[in-house]
Amino acid sequence: MALRDIVKEGDKILTKSCRPVEKFDEKLATLLDDMAETLKVAEGVGLAAPQVGILRRVCIVDVGDESGVIELINPVITEQSGKQSGAEGCLSFPNQYGVVERPMFVTVKAQDRNGSEFTVKGEGLKARAFCHEIDHLNGVVFKERCERMLSPDEIEPA
Ligand code: CO
Repeated sequence: MALRDIVKEGDKILTKSCRPVEKFDEKLATLLDDMAETLKVAEGVGLAAPQVGILRRVCIVDVGDESGVIELINPVITEQSGKQSGAEGCLSFPNQYGVVERPMFVTVKAQDRNGSEFTVKGEGLKARAFCHEIDHLNGVVFKERCERMLSPDEIEPA
């Protein structure tokens, strides 16, 4: 495994739509392993392939619960309900947080690293993370969804 560099705000790759994964090969497995290691070191809850410079529909989410790292290949939100409004950030936008409204519950259909289809449900933070990461695959960053950015004194010290 290896750490990958996280693309930062201003890089045009973050605005591009990603292509579907067609080959479930060793290269994909390596990408997923590297993304998981990169996410862990960065202490984030999610990471999308374009954030490491790869324009493919791949993202991972880890909200620190018993599910561990959830790998989503070619993910699609099939159901959503409820609403939540809260602070959101992104590893590509260090030290920036904004208020973003998201669904409270989502159901995502995706493929695993072997190409098998599965469905996963998320509530609260996990639903928010699924939405945020899938947005990345469509070239959408959280700032575009933001009602307002938080000022430095509104951000709780980590
Ligand atoms: Co992000």
